[in-house]
Amino acid sequence: MLSKSCQQVHELNFSDVESEVLTLLSRMTIEEKIGQMSQLSGDGCIVSKNLRKAIIAGHVGSILNEVDLDTINELQRIAIQESRLGIPLLIGRDVIHGFNTIFPIPLAQAATWSPKIVERCAKIAAIESSSSGINWTFAPMIDIARDPRWGRIAESLGEDPYLCKTLANSMVKGFQGDSLSDTNSIAACAKHFAGYGASEGGKDYNTTNIPENELRNVYLPPFKAIAESGVATFMASFSDLNGVPVTGNNWLLTTVLRDEWNYSGPVVSDWEAVPQLVTHGFAFDDYDAAGKACTAGIDMEMASDCYLKHMKHLMNNNVISLDKIDSVVKRILTLKFNLGLFESAITSPNQPSNSLNTDHLSIAKEAVIKSCVLLKNDNQILPIAKSAINTLAVIGPLADDGYEQMGTWAFDGKENQSHTCLNALKEVAKNAFNINYAVGMETTRCNHHDGFAEAIDTAINADIALMFLGEEAILSGEAHCRSSIDLPGAQEQLINVIHATGTPIILVIMAGRPITLEKIISKVDAILFAWHPGTMAGPAITDLLFGVESPSGKLPVTFPRTVGQIPLYYAQKNSGRPPIDEKYINIDNIKMRAPQTSFGMTATYLDTHFSPLFPFGFGLSYSQFCYTKIKLNNKVIPMGGAVEVSATINNVGNYNAEEVVQLYIRDIVGNVTRPIKELKGFQRITLGKGESMVVTFKLHTDELAFYNQQMEYKPEAGLFHVWIGGDSSTTLKTEFEVTD
Ligand code: NOJ
Repeated sequence: MLSKSCQQVHELNFSDVESEVLTLLSRMTIEEKIGQMSQLSGDGCIVSKNLRKAIIAGHVGSILNEVDLDTINELQRIAIQESRLGIPLLIGRDVIHGFNTIFPIPLAQAATWSPKIVERCAKIAAIESSSSGINWTFAPMIDIARDPRWGRIAESLGEDPYLCKTLANSMVKGFQGDSLSDTNSIAACAKHFAGYGASEGGKDYNTTNIPENELRNVYLPPFKAIAESGVATFMASFSDLNGVPVTGNNWLLTTVLRDEWNYSGPVVSDWEAVPQLVTHGFAFDDYDAAGKACTAGIDMEMASDCYLKHMKHLMNNNVISLDKIDSVVKRILTLKFNLGLFESAITSPNQPSNSLNTDHLSIAKEAVIKSCVLLKNDNQILPIAKSAINTLAVIGPLADDGYEQMGTWAFDGKENQSHTCLNALKEVAKNAFNINYAVGMETTRCNHHDGFAEAIDTAINADIALMFLGEEAILSGEAHCRSSIDLPGAQEQLINVIHATGTPIILVIMAGRPITLEKIISKVDAILFAWHPGTMAGPAITDLLFGVESPSGKLPVTFPRTVGQIPLYYAQKNSGRPPIDEKYINIDNIKMRAPQTSFGMTATYLDTHFSPLFPFGFGLSYSQFCYTKIKLNNKVIPMGGAVEVSATINNVGNYNAEEVVQLYIRDIVGNVTRPIKELKGFQRITLGKGESMVVTFKLHTDELAFYNQQMEYKPEAGLFHVWIGGDSSTTLKTEFEVTD
């Protein structure tokens, strides 16, 4: 048996695969079919007796969480040589933002607004993980995430359906390549279908209640888009959607996914989600749960064994038909054939180790450079001019922590392979300036001030205090939600004491989510938001700090001022009483027994602004871009036609730089109310200083479609506003009309 990489995998065409699948299916016993529907956890570098027995008996279709190449090859060998029919295994792993080379977390990748970078990161993740025997990743996670308390926002592509679906397509392309059977292609998985990001209160695994119209207009579009462009698999969310847990949700998994979208790949449950139907109070016991999950459309059960234990009984009792099982198993076998596993399930241990090679590291660096978002830069303190400083104080627990900078879901990245900021700064400083380093706080969460005195000393004697704060990896990700999204622990106090020294502060924040910064923003001179940047944090962030590169990342999520504003996203509805004035009614200034009207009578708060601290799409550059002359090629567009919208962008600053030009629309009157702004296009451009460019977007009326009250998806005639700008608060606007 050869590896995919050391033999020519011949491409099977569709009918070849279909007939191979049918032939194999006709030879399978019921037990073997049920076995294909089962995904078990690996034993970690060994093959236990039980697992070996189960594979030989044909009771396992897939293994997850095994990464040791020899062990994976042994598992495949057992499946191929010792099971009756020799069916190879799907080997699944959460390859979420890199394998050995860790790229910025997905939320940070979304901040690049670069389909190209996202595709390359996924491609490299596929190359590295497939060399370890993995053939299936559980990514991309395309849950629309509008609650930054939710820890899994880190894994998401942000709050916006258009940005999410565009980048999700690129990620799938990166993982799956041109063909699943290619060497180094792995199957991707659209997860978590659907609505998981709307977990109440930003608490993981919590209930979601999403009206069908919102579900279809906001949460489903990324899933539909990648179903259509060929994502190999889907994972059902383990959340409760409108009272019916998705694992048992026939409407979502069958009516929408199969009947409406004609999706033909397998659907896997989330971890132990089948027995959790009992915990949800949706199934009486595991037997009932297995019946409900399979009926609803779960093809493969992850980690638990309800299918293995109960499916045969369910068939005997006519709850599940043989036809149903056959159609499920066909989907699983088809994927295995498409991946080329029947020719090449064993991965050659002699492949040159390509992990963390220079190409991979250089893409990782580029991804960090493009993902960091410059939020503040008073008096152009950034970039730092090497010649203008004698001493740089480097302060903070995240300056030199190779592990924490990788963020959540970085199982296969190694701390000692991470390049930290402190090390990279030392390189830059050689013969140019001094670096004094103080950790300040042991961790980002600690509440004591033991390290403050040393940090203050360091800052007092420096020209600039460069602080590396934020969240450790463990503060975001699955089941790591926060009720406050301020900088944790005593970090705000640390900023205050450093501010009191009078030394200017440049703050670099590494975090897995938006952080509320209102309390400290006036204390610092600049903020570079670096998310969890991964392996190449140091070299990339240093290039940004010293002006080798200009920041060009843009926020893929709104940054609220305070946690009480959540949910806060740019594409809100107008309401009947929209806020009109940025001033808020400061509760302290209201007279006792004031008349109701002095409260403003609009959709805002008494104690904070209605606007965010930083809007969706926001990000500064070292240069400055001036947007003018928004133009249309036509003011009246017949339905079925297209309009061209353009604007002139001038680089009026002093740096050559990249900028993400964004196109927004508003459908003024709809059969259902439409958001006050909706992203409909973006382009990343490069402009030399003093240069200008006309950027044009073509918008077809089909792209104005939405689900109406009758749940029909169609555009409506009428007036549209259209904006072009550098973030969602842009005011450069014109309008056009669509006619029937
Ligand atoms: C549970 C998570 O929700 C899912 O995203 C992940 O893929 C599985 N565990 C497997 O690790």
